[in-house]
Amino acid sequence: MKKGIVTILLGSIAVWAQAADLKAGEEKAMVCVACHGPGGVSANPDWPSLAGQGQKYIEKQLKDFKSGERPNMVMQPQAGMLSDEDIVNVAAYFAAQTPPQATTEGAGDNPEELLALGEALYRGGDMSKNVPACMACHGPTGAGIEPAAFPRISGQHAKYTRTQLDAFRTSALIDQQASETDRASLVVRANDPNGMMRDVAEKLTPKQIEAVARYMQGLH
Ligand code: HEC
Ligand code: HEC
Repeated sequence: MKKGIVTILLGSIAVWAQAADLKAGEEKAMVCVACHGPGGVSANPDWPSLAGQGQKYIEKQLKDFKSGERPNMVMQPQAGMLSDEDIVNVAAYFAAQTPPQATTEGAGDNPEELLALGEALYRGGDMSKNVPACMACHGPTGAGIEPAAFPRISGQHAKYTRTQLDAFRTSALIDQQASETDRASLVVRANDPNGMMRDVAEKLTPKQIEAVARYMQGLH
């Protein structure tokens, strides 16, 4: 009986170990680091850092880019070249790298007042508009919650973060009747399960978005 359980356990460990091949992931990542930076730490504020990002979250995004669920002209062809196996491997590679250093440097002017506004929203939400605390899903240090595929946002470029929040917001506010052409000309993102992020971003002002994006870049 006991022996049976041990065999099952060992068997599942073997399956798990086979699931991701870090070496193969590193090879696949060679084209990615041209934009996402060595080891996935990006130097360009339009290109997100991937280092230390959750494995499940990276896998989901690559599948969403590939299917067009998350429309992006740069990433769609990149993800399109990856098989399901490549996606697991490359995600494991970036997930295993050291996350970017959290700093508000390079995010623009960061007056105390703006960072304080960002901190209050991140930690406490905005009760007046029923906006939950970002911390509830992205974690007190911004490390995300890997098993739930809630992404790490600590150390991420404020400019990239702002683009994403604007895109979720646009998707939430877009007129259901908008034509395909109108939609195609907008930067949208609607791949968040149950509209979790659209519900949040919809209620934020441009100033709150700017503030929280800068605060998160320095959060650790
Ligand atoms: C030509 C530059 C370029 C290359 C090459 C590239 N990416 Fe990207 N990647 C981007 C940009 C730009 C974005 C942000 C898209 C957006 O604004 O939504 C992005 C976004 C992503 C995201 C989403 C990150 C997040 O936090 O949601 C993942 C994951 C990703 N890329 C993985 C990869 C992988 C894996 C490769 C290699 C197979 C790769 N990228 C190659 C430019 C690039
Ligand atoms: C109920 C949970 C929840 C709350 C609350 C929440 N988020 Fe998110 N957030 C998510 C999930 C889930 C995703 C990933 C969606 C997907 O799978 O593409 C996400 C994605 C994001 C992204 C995109 C990350 C990337 O790498 O592209 C940003 C930026 C973000 N959230 C910021 C915020 C901010 C700012 C707040 C607070 C004002 C907040 N979130 C509150 C669940 C949440």
